[in-house]
Amino acid sequence: MSTDHSRIRSWHEHRSAYQASLDDPGSFWAAQAERFKWHRKWDEVLEWDFEGPQVKWFSGGRLNITENCLDRHLDDRGRSTAIIWEPNDPKEKALRLTYHELHERVCRYANMLKRNGVTKGDRVCVYMPMVPDLLIAVLACARIGAVHSVVFCGFSAQSLADRINDASAKVVLCSDGMFRGAKEMPVKSVVDEALSHCACVERVLVTRRVGWDVAMDPARDRWAHDELAEVNVFCEAEVMDSEDPLFILYTSGSTGKPKGVVHTCGGYMVYADYSFRNVFQYDPGQVFWCTADVGWITGHSYMAYGPLLAGATQVMFEGVPTWPDPSRFWQIVDKHRVNIFYTAPTAIRSLMACGLDPVLDHDLHSLKVLGTVGEPINEEAWHWYKDHIGKGRCPIVDTWWQTETGGIMISSLAGVTDERPGHAAYPLPGIQPVLLTPEGEEITENEVEGLLCIRFPWPSMLRTTWGDHERCRQTYFSAFKGMYFTGDGARRDADGRYRIIGRVDDVINVSGHRFGTAEIESAINEAKGVVESAVVGYPHEIKGQGIYAYVITEGPVSDPEEMRGRVLEAVTAGIGKIARPDKIQLVSGLPKTRSGKIMRRILRKIAEGELDKLGDTSTLLDPTVVDEIKGGRL
Ligand code: WT7
Repeated sequence: MSTDHSRIRSWHEHRSAYQASLDDPGSFWAAQAERFKWHRKWDEVLEWDFEGPQVKWFSGGRLNITENCLDRHLDDRGRSTAIIWEPNDPKEKALRLTYHELHERVCRYANMLKRNGVTKGDRVCVYMPMVPDLLIAVLACARIGAVHSVVFCGFSAQSLADRINDASAKVVLCSDGMFRGAKEMPVKSVVDEALSHCACVERVLVTRRVGWDVAMDPARDRWAHDELAEVNVFCEAEVMDSEDPLFILYTSGSTGKPKGVVHTCGGYMVYADYSFRNVFQYDPGQVFWCTADVGWITGHSYMAYGPLLAGATQVMFEGVPTWPDPSRFWQIVDKHRVNIFYTAPTAIRSLMACGLDPVLDHDLHSLKVLGTVGEPINEEAWHWYKDHIGKGRCPIVDTWWQTETGGIMISSLAGVTDERPGHAAYPLPGIQPVLLTPEGEEITENEVEGLLCIRFPWPSMLRTTWGDHERCRQTYFSAFKGMYFTGDGARRDADGRYRIIGRVDDVINVSGHRFGTAEIESAINEAKGVVESAVVGYPHEIKGQGIYAYVITEGPVSDPEEMRGRVLEAVTAGIGKIARPDKIQLVSGLPKTRSGKIMRRILRKIAEGELDKLGDTSTLLDPTVVDEIKGGRL
């Protein structure tokens, strides 16, 4: 047994590590941090105050995360594979990059950024599909101390522009276009449209992927391959302070505008590595595959950083699970002999709906560990995953965490702790969850439900929201004194395992993607002829939650389909296709209290089809509107 608890291999070790992390958090985390290359060791492991909030981990420490992801491995693992890139089209050849090669490509890319004016502290927006350059770009930013802000390619020009402006990014990194299943889609032209609303961007660097002849502004745009040819392969890593920002990642909350969650260098590095190795029980030589896009936090922590910090070999996949056919994932598992497979419940459910034929042609014998993330997994999907993908022999880790937490917080450790379907199970050693009543009282018993909070800092927690620290305090640290509030409700079973129930705020989780109801409503309200709207989530068989929109129009609508089309277009333009409502009901009014507040509880019940459970509607300004909405339910 390792006394530094850096790798927990039994339930007994889990318990003793957990106790050690409570007794002396400073020593516990210092031992984890010892694994890395530091230019200067920290003065203090932790300073904190959740009121501010002010949280500092390893302060005074100096490091560069990419030296720990890349340079640190060159002597021992320089020739082993870091990345196996599997393209969208199975007929195109996969690309393998060793740690040496990845190091070289990151250094070259970093030099290109410098050549184009990027310096430490500058914000760089990365808007790229799942090509190797996406990962390389992210690491290249970190190499020179630029703050990356990756925006998922499914977001519209408008959301891209909002994110670029909020961070005042100086440079945008993108591709010409992208392949997604059978489709080819534009990327550069979306950037062009976004940049007509952004004055801060001085340079756009474009990676060639689909081979399109895209418009290039000679003053602003450069092809990455031309620029890369001009720079050399050696790039000294910028030495960063532990608490310097590493990246910004935008995420939705209950207000209209997404916020830029800020993560810093030292603590994030320590926790990404610690959680990766322990949750997945990664052993050297194994092949890890996380199917998430780098545009989400999962792709940051368990593709760009965690696996590379651990010296792992991993698959990066450009395509989609269902193209050319629904066996694509299983074909890749066999082809690259994947040992650890990490995906979202929504993907499992959509593949489950395709039947067993696509699975049966593949033996999947390389698989050892399965993981899920992003939303609660229903028991049916859990068992299907266990029986048909894991063939009953692979542990499943159901990992609960958030963009804000930076790393996995509650999860079983593969094969180490027991598992129960639908339960994320135990907090990782170092993580202190609590359940509270709505009044803020702690519930200490088991077999109870409450609001999930965390009472003690962990190294990869968010430090602020970009440009607006007060918003960070308000959103996460003001609901309950001295606590980080997650926004989730959870249940604790008799043995202390947690089951995440879902969001208790106005956030909808669609296929593991987070949207604020207010955000979708403001996009809908941009549609011509819309007066007001209210959006709620409802249970959806594949997506987990679907989006149900109630829309008030200006006067009677002669062509409801045309009106719905306009609403969909407005959401596509305002946020992106990923946030389009599944159902749009045109209504003449919304249930409001006398003070004008929309009664979402009623709208949620109607969307869920629980028409007899609407509760008391007598306090409404106009109770008859409820009958109308019930009658027109989709
Ligand atoms: C929200 C965070 C963390 C990476 C992907 C999503 C929900 C996340 C689980 C899980 C039940 C989960 C929560 C959380 N969630 N993982 N294993 N079981 N719910 O990151 O976009 O920041 O969303 O996703 O509601 O608050 P995110």
